[in-house]
Amino acid sequence: MSIGPTVRRMLGPVEAPISSAYRSMFINVGQLGEAMTALPFGSRVLEVGVGDGMIASQLTTRRLDVTVLGIDLAENPGSLFEGDATRAQFRTVSTSDLLAEKPEPFDAIVIADVLHHVPPAIRPSLLSDVSALLADDGVLLVKETVVVSSPGYWMGKFSDRYITGDRNVSFLREDDLHQLISDNVPGLVASGRSTIKPWKTNLLLVWRRSGS
Ligand SMILES: C[S@@+](CC[C@H](N)C(=O)[O-])C[C@H]1O[C@@H](n2cnc3c(N)ncnc32)[C@H](O)[C@@H]1O
Repeated sequence: MSIGPTVRRMLGPVEAPISSAYRSMFINVGQLGEAMTALPFGSRVLEVGVGDGMIASQLTTRRLDVTVLGIDLAENPGSLFEGDATRAQFRTVSTSDLLAEKPEPFDAIVIADVLHHVPPAIRPSLLSDVSALLADDGVLLVKETVVVSSPGYWMGKFSDRYITGDRNVSFLREDDLHQLISDNVPGLVASGRSTIKPWKTNLLLVWRRSGS
């Protein structure tokens, strides 16, 4: 969850602590970072829909060998990144334009709270780009706010619609998320599932691509 751009502009220098406090009502970012780095993966990480860079901060702080490329369609991605800036790069570029640059495949790809902002008709092409960008033995980490009966889900939905201002958010059930990923990113083996405090709507799914 993130606060909307208008509120951000008004906050100025206190944006970072207020964003962090606001976000803590929805998710324990430290626990998410810990869960994301529990499974080993190589050092080249792509984060799709990196937003303000809070998750990229977690990854680079917890894994001192990791470099993160954070991409987003929005301007100024990574604006609240904290950590070793030599190991993080942020770009406004789509997955398809990044793919056209033919980068070396990534050891891990993170997609955190992005899919519910992507129109359902476009999700397959986004994930097909992700599939092409992921190494043969790469790890895919997807954090989503899934549909469950929980105050956290309703809070997240309200925040996305009325604070972030995306009236078109469309959330997935866990089964549908599994299906969406397996339909569009072949060769994955489920390797982890955790829910992140304080709400059971915060689901992290991890897959490793089997090179064989
Ligand atoms: C709720 S924010 C999550 C940011 C970050 N992943 C985090 O968890 O802190 C969702 C982000 O996804 C981005 N986004 C939406 N559709 C996208 C797409 N097709 N490709 C890349 N980024 C996208 C939005 O611009 C926004 O920054």
